[in-house]
Amino acid sequence: MRYVPKHADELRATAKAMVEPGKGVVALDESNATCTKRFEDVGAQSSEETRRQYRQLLITAPEAQKYISGAILFDETIRQATDDGTPFVKVLKDRGQIPGIKVDTGAKDLPGGRGEKMTEGLDGLRDRLAEYYDLGARFAKWRAVITIGDGMPTIGCYKANAHALARYAALCQEAGIVPMIEPEVLISGDHSIERCQEVTEQNLRIVFQELAEQEVMLEGTILKTSMVISGLKAPNRAGVTEVADRTVETLMRTVPPALGGVVFLSGGQGHVESSAHLSAMNQRWGDKTPWNMTFSYARALQQPALDIWGPDNSKVKEAQQAFLTRAKMNSLASTGDYTEASEKAA
Ligand code: 13P
Repeated sequence: MRYVPKHADELRATAKAMVEPGKGVVALDESNATCTKRFEDVGAQSSEETRRQYRQLLITAPEAQKYISGAILFDETIRQATDDGTPFVKVLKDRGQIPGIKVDTGAKDLPGGRGEKMTEGLDGLRDRLAEYYDLGARFAKWRAVITIGDGMPTIGCYKANAHALARYAALCQEAGIVPMIEPEVLISGDHSIERCQEVTEQNLRIVFQELAEQEVMLEGTILKTSMVISGLKAPNRAGVTEVADRTVETLMRTVPPALGGVVFLSGGQGHVESSAHLSAMNQRWGDKTPWNMTFSYARALQQPALDIWGPDNSKVKEAQQAFLTRAKMNSLASTGDYTEASEKAA
């Protein structure tokens, strides 16, 4: 008999709300090491307190709930509160936003010496998920990393990562938490868009095969994917329309219609580029795809705000305004309504 998770209805409803038209998810789940690097790049000191202040600024940005359906938090962040002691999770919930949590414990080197990565975090995950559910998390992210290079990806890398993603996803659903599965194909390198498309297609095929084998309920699952795009150092990088068309073409070939929704990571694209790509996908394909396609950016939503706040940890209102501008631009992009004119008007 087909296995149906106990919380099937809740999972479906959560997934649907995450990708509601005109909204997307903000990723605030940088590990302390990554957050420290982002802070240092803009001249900010990283400590538990400065990270709290910065995340508070984003979480409390006025009216962000018009554009943002939920936020992915890090283990430290989900336990933090605003200056007046209100837990971040409560602030989000009171605004009708869904708290999420990053649950992988990072990408480690895969044996073989090629520089490929394998994401860890399955040990003890059932207990951690139960705690996160009690803390209020209703979705959870796991990021796998696929590297394009000489002789890479190897089949071993695709399979090891896809298997872990499927096992984590099944554990999430058992706990009443929507898995946001993120099998990212890295943008670094000089590969062509054709090569990225080939790798993304293979990757997604293997991931969805593994999800089927672990009996993951697709209606209660969100795919967080990279776009099909030229490597950052590629000569003659493909333009916006080609990125949009190849990305959606690849998803249509590999992603079952039952899936709860598709969100994109920005992965090192600039903030304007990320909005333009998402909007082109929705404008050209939005009425043809069976799932909503929206954003789940970290850098592309946060960078302008971080640039303003970073140097002296002040200018909170200005930084919030910069964050809201990116949220609004990507909200427009999620329905295919973002244009160069929207950017100029902002
Ligand atoms: P970027 O949008 O900065 O790629 O981050 C998204 C994310 O959650 C990476 O795991």
